[in-house]
Order: sequence, then C-alpha cells, then structure tokens
Amino acid sequence: VTREDCLARDAADPLGAARRRFVLPEGVIYLDGNSLGPLPAATGPRLAAVIAEEWGEGLIRSWNAAGWIDAPHRVGDKIARLIGARPGTVVAVDSTSVNLFKVLAAACALRPGRSTVLSEPGNFPTDLYIAEGLTRLAGGKRLKLVDWDEVVAAIDADTAVVMLTHVDYRSGRGFDMGAVTRAAHDAGALVVWDLAHSAGAMRLDLAGCDADFAVGCGYKYLNGGPGAPAFLYVAPRWQEAFSQPLSGWLGHAAPFAFEPGYRPAPGVGRYVCGTPPILSLAALEVGVDTALTFDLAAVRAKSQALVDLFVDLVETRCAGHGLRLATPRQAERRGSQVCFAHPDGYPMVQALVARGVIGDFRAPDILRFGFAPLYVRFVDVWDAVEALRDVLASGAWRGEAFATRAAVT
Ligand SMILES: Cc1ncc(COP(=O)(O)O)c(C=O)c1O
Repeated sequence: VTREDCLARDAADPLGAARRRFVLPEGVIYLDGNSLGPLPAATGPRLAAVIAEEWGEGLIRSWNAAGWIDAPHRVGDKIARLIGARPGTVVAVDSTSVNLFKVLAAACALRPGRSTVLSEPGNFPTDLYIAEGLTRLAGGKRLKLVDWDEVVAAIDADTAVVMLTHVDYRSGRGFDMGAVTRAAHDAGALVVWDLAHSAGAMRLDLAGCDADFAVGCGYKYLNGGPGAPAFLYVAPRWQEAFSQPLSGWLGHAAPFAFEPGYRPAPGVGRYVCGTPPILSLAALEVGVDTALTFDLAAVRAKSQALVDLFVDLVETRCAGHGLRLATPRQAERRGSQVCFAHPDGYPMVQALVARGVIGDFRAPDILRFGFAPLYVRFVDVWDAVEALRDVLASGAWRGEAFATRAAVT
C-alpha cells in the first residue's frame, strides 16, 4: 500500500462527498468522532436561526409554533430510523446516564421475582455506577459482573436484566445483539443495550432483534455537539407496562392540566422528564439529519476498510515499538474504532495530538482511534500512521510536555 493507493481509494469512495458536510480544522486528522463528533456545516446556521427567529422573535410562542414541545419525539423518531426502531419508540432527552437509570428501573420492575442485573466489569463505568445507584435505592436487586466472554453462559433463572454496551468503549469488540437478546429472553430476562459506540456507525436492528430497552449518546457518531441530548428506546410491549421513576411533568399525560398527581403519558412519552434543551436538540437534529442522508451499509463497509487499513499499516510501518492490537481483527466482531495497548500510551497519544492527529487515551494503556467514515479519508489513515511512526521512531513522545495528564483524557 502507498499513499497514492489511499488517494485513489478516496477518489472512488461513494461517501467522499460527505466530508463537505462537516467543518474540520486545517491540519487536523480527526480520529475521535467516537468521543465527540465534529461540527456539521449546517449546525451553525440552524442554531443562529433558532436563536434569532424561534427564540428571539417567537419567544414563548415557539413551544407550539416552532414545534419545540415535540422536539424530543421528532428527533427521537429520526434516531429510530438509524437504529432499526419503529416510530414512537425513541425519545431524545437527558444524558445517557440518566436515560439508563430510567430504562433500567423499568426493566428491573418488570422482573420482580428475580434478583440480578447482569453485566461485565469492562462496561462503561457510568453504566455500572448507575446500576449500583439504582440497586442501592430500589433494593431487592444486585449487580453481578462476569467476564465479557461469559455473559451469555451466566444468564440464569435469577437474571432480571442483562445490561451491556453493544460495542465496548475501550476494545471496540461488539456483542451479537440478536444472539444475546435471544439468550436472555430464553431465560426469561430482559436486555438493556447501550448503543453509545454503535448508533450512527453501523446498521442496527433493535426491532428485528426484539430488544427490550436501549440508550445511546447524541454527541458521538450522531454529531450532536458537546453534551448533546442522548436517546432512549423502549419496545412497544413495555411502554405501558411501567411508569419510570423520574416522573417529571413533561412525562405526564396532561402537563398543562397541572394536576397534583402523576399520570404517565401514553407510550414512550412518559420517559421525558423535564423541559427539553431546545438549542441542544436543534443541534442534535442537524447531526441526525446529516447521518440520515447516507446509507449506513456504505458507512459500515468504509469503516471496516479504514480500520483494516489502519491496523495493517500500524503493524507493518510501526513494528518493533511494542504496540499490541487490542481490538478484534475480524471486521464483523468490532465497532468503528481500533485500539492498541502500550504502557506509554498516554504520552504517545499526546505527541500525536501535537502533530494534529487526534485520537484518545483510555486508562490504563489504550491508544484509541475512531474512524467515522463520513469525513475520515483513506489518505488520513496513511498520514496518521506516518505521524505515529515518526512519534515512535523519534522518541518524541518522551518529551516532558506530553507527560502531564489533563483532566479529560
Ligand atoms: C458506553 C458509554 N455509555 C455512556 C457514556 C456517557 O454517557 P453520558 O455522559 O451521556 O451520561 C459514554 C461516554 O463516553 C459511553 O462511552
């Protein structure tokens, strides 16, 4: 493979035009869209219009006239199309952590006779922390952690809920959503999926997999902006079966009746809690609209090709520096990111960032690179690996400036 080969692949790329839909700074190769997606070109103008017209001119009238009150449902229905869910099953609200609390509470309540919430220790910490907090509060349930490979075998008659992140945030390996959901249902358990690292990066089929509940992030592959609202999914069969504990007024059947008692809204609407952040939802909607413009099968195919190329180039051009592939080699077993482990991963990532190649570091030793096919090119993969080769060969990462850990890694 040569740099020219990479340029030729870009010229033939059916997603090549998608890059123009994003604002990307000169001199930056962005391999971190799995942490914070870049700015879509349409977001600034859209937010300016929402601010000037809907907020500035429309004022409070915009709750009705500009459809603000429906935004969680409208954006939720668009996200549903990306994750294989039917209209009326997704709302865009709150953070992933808060949404997990709501759907996990529902799933636990729907399995009263069983005592375990089953997960694995490598799950994203907020998922484990939320489960801990919920089980402490609710009583009668406990969190049980088993190794990633042993999750399916550990599902038993006492499992109330299997709670998993679909694509692992560190290693990038993915669970087979259909198979795990089937195994859980066969044992009488429910499943909660965290789609933070898969929604927008690959085709998902929540309805086809018969998933029960799911949550996911708006600021990663959906390019909704820093702290964008997250989303949650509730299968139609569970929507009326339980009313989630964060029973705020906008999840009430008639919020503007101002009744003293709570009556849940029909359907997934009861999972809305308080006033939705309209500016953030407007930004998220642009990101989701951008993702909906492109075929997710093409996105997935290119993501697999980008990662294959990156792994191949790192292993051939950066050999001898102790980097160990920590992501499955088979494309269908991983998400849209790749990790290499190295004890000096932190300064190495910082030295790369100083050269304009932005990936991230995940403790204790992971160099993580995300490949978002709407704007990452094959030539970016080549150039990123050349930068890594230079950082390793020159020992530049040993510089003092790269040793101090910032608050956000
Ligand atoms: C798998 C997973 N779940 C949840 C979160 C965080 O969710 P939030 O900060 O929206 O609560 C992240 C953040 O990176 C994540 O990777």
